[in-house]
Amino acid sequence: MLKIITQPNPILRKKSQAVKDILAQKIQELIPRMAETMINHDGVGLAAPQIGKNIRLITVNHKDRVLAIINPKITKKSFLKEWGEEGCLSVPDKFGEVKRSKSIIIEYFDEKNNQKILKAPGLLARVIQHEIDHLDGILFIDKARKLRDINTLNA
Ligand code: CO
Repeated sequence: MLKIITQPNPILRKKSQAVKDILAQKIQELIPRMAETMINHDGVGLAAPQIGKNIRLITVNHKDRVLAIINPKITKKSFLKEWGEEGCLSVPDKFGEVKRSKSIIIEYFDEKNNQKILKAPGLLARVIQHEIDHLDGILFIDKARKLRDINTLNA
């Protein structure tokens, strides 16, 4: 399993670079290891900077299927936004509400280097926006309201 780095590690604040060769062995080996790490931590998404690599690669756990999303670009955002609860494996024990577009369309490459277009509604849209923020050095705590730690939630 890969080690997840946490705030305030400066790697989390760097802008990540595009993956140049998706079919390279090191990328092909990294994707299943990120998926395993995400699932073992009960995460719904994981971005490569969180495991110490500043490359534009994320994994998303969607309905028991892992999506590898590489070099994503948001091509459309819904006008409507909504607040929703978020946390992050790199910001342990903190939760807060973040305002995100309700649905988005992204273009990306999958692990086989196929170009894809995905319309993501609801929670999936929120997760993908959170993970793409990681690729740009942005953490949810930068945008959150009602930020609090898990002890407060459980009180
Ligand atoms: Co996160």
